[in-house]
Amino acid sequence: MADFEPVLLANIHLPDSHTFDVYEGKGGYRALRKTMRELKPVDVIEMVKASGLRGRGGAGFPTGLKWTFLPKDHPGPVYFLLNADESEPGTFNNRILMEEDPHQILEGLILSCFATRATAAYIYLRYEYPLALERMQRAVDECYRARYLGANILGSGYSLDVTLHRGAAAYICGEETGLIESLEGKRAWPRIKPPFPAVEGVFRKPTVVNNVETAACVTQIMSRGSDWFKSIGVPPPADNPRDAGSYGPKLYCLSGHIERPGCYEAPLGITVRQLVDQYGGGVWRGRKAKAAIPGGISMGLLREDEFDCPLDFSGPGRYGCLGLGTAAVVILDETVSIMDYLYNSARFFAHERGGQCPPCREGTSWALKILERIRAGRGRLKDLDLLAEIAGSIGIIPGTTICGLADGAAWPMKNALSKFREECEETIKRTNPKGWMVTDPVPALEAGITVHELKAVH
Ligand SMILES: Cc1cc2nc3c(=O)[nH]c(=O)nc-3n(C[C@H](O)[C@H](O)[C@H](O)COP(=O)(O)O)c2cc1C
Ligand code: SF4
Repeated sequence: MADFEPVLLANIHLPDSHTFDVYEGKGGYRALRKTMRELKPVDVIEMVKASGLRGRGGAGFPTGLKWTFLPKDHPGPVYFLLNADESEPGTFNNRILMEEDPHQILEGLILSCFATRATAAYIYLRYEYPLALERMQRAVDECYRARYLGANILGSGYSLDVTLHRGAAAYICGEETGLIESLEGKRAWPRIKPPFPAVEGVFRKPTVVNNVETAACVTQIMSRGSDWFKSIGVPPPADNPRDAGSYGPKLYCLSGHIERPGCYEAPLGITVRQLVDQYGGGVWRGRKAKAAIPGGISMGLLREDEFDCPLDFSGPGRYGCLGLGTAAVVILDETVSIMDYLYNSARFFAHERGGQCPPCREGTSWALKILERIRAGRGRLKDLDLLAEIAGSIGIIPGTTICGLADGAAWPMKNALSKFREECEETIKRTNPKGWMVTDPVPALEAGITVHELKAVH
């Protein structure tokens, strides 16, 4: 790692790094000009495929492969959606890129649109990011003035329009088909797939959805080459040659109980321990870590003795987590109650879920009610089995829901209950010494009680 050179964040500390002049002065848009002059769309697709780039939005799908799913002879239009909704708790790498280096994203977006022959691109930008919205809009305007957007870009014959759309302020708007519905002016209820967006997306036309950081990676691939990109990161694990590997630089958001929280660029495959010690300056106040969320709250939990887990696309899965997710690492120190972590996570998902799928709608609300009751000193050991049963029966993976939000709600429960079972049992016994062994049905909390009135368990 010693010779690793950050590229995605290379310019963010320059004065006025968000402006066209600074970006172009540092060599920006050279790749775009070269591509427009010398390459065909298929060349860009081949370069992105050869680089091994996988989407940075959470699922890690190979980007070049996704682009090839567009129907070959479609009369058009083809749309491109840049997913800038970034609502996964702990995640802020898209915000930093949009605020400090919006042209790096736009260059990648234009190159990606050229590759996929999209003639209109929408940037769906999280409602709560006003500075990012302002700077992205300014960057789009600057691109139009420079003729990098609009009709017949740089005389290439290729035309592209980009429109910014301020998001509807809900986590579910980040799910790609929820995002499409929201962009069309409807409630962000995810669509049943197939058809996938590549075949039927915005306005029922073929659509590519990519994340902001994915677009920034495309800029770097087209400017430095696929071999350079593939020389960073890790190949597939030996026991799973079908894995697509984890290549390129990655933005890791580090927060929680850490001395130096921030957004750090490192090669894919760095371990949690390396990230905490070498970038984050260790756990705050000299305390010990108890656990870490490896990639946004949806991904579950790693114990401290699992901190050698590599943060690549397959690492967290090998430790029982859902995946790498957004690579947003949140450190929980030894004073954190796992029951509080579970309660906070359940509160988030019960609030943010849509309502189409009964297992998700009822499961997330039910889990929250159980956790509220435990926090109120009325928990029973049996509740832990109940929570595990709910966690095991909601989500795409057990096949009961339309989108992955429910899996994200399930994983914190699955991991906490299996990795910290003893602590959960002790919390219940300590806070409900007379009733923890009760197995009869227990009535719900009295109607009207609010979360804020509940007694914390410690
Ligand atoms: C509940 C939920 C929320 C999501 N939120 C985001 C988000 O805010 N930003 C994002 O890029 N992807 C988000 N995703 C993933 C997108 O559906 C999609 O996979 C991604 O935008 C594709 O881009 P990529 O291939 O470049 O990763 C979310 C998925 C789910 C299930
Ligand atoms: S899983 Fe949950 S959030 Fe996703 S579509 Fe179904 S109800 Fe909505």
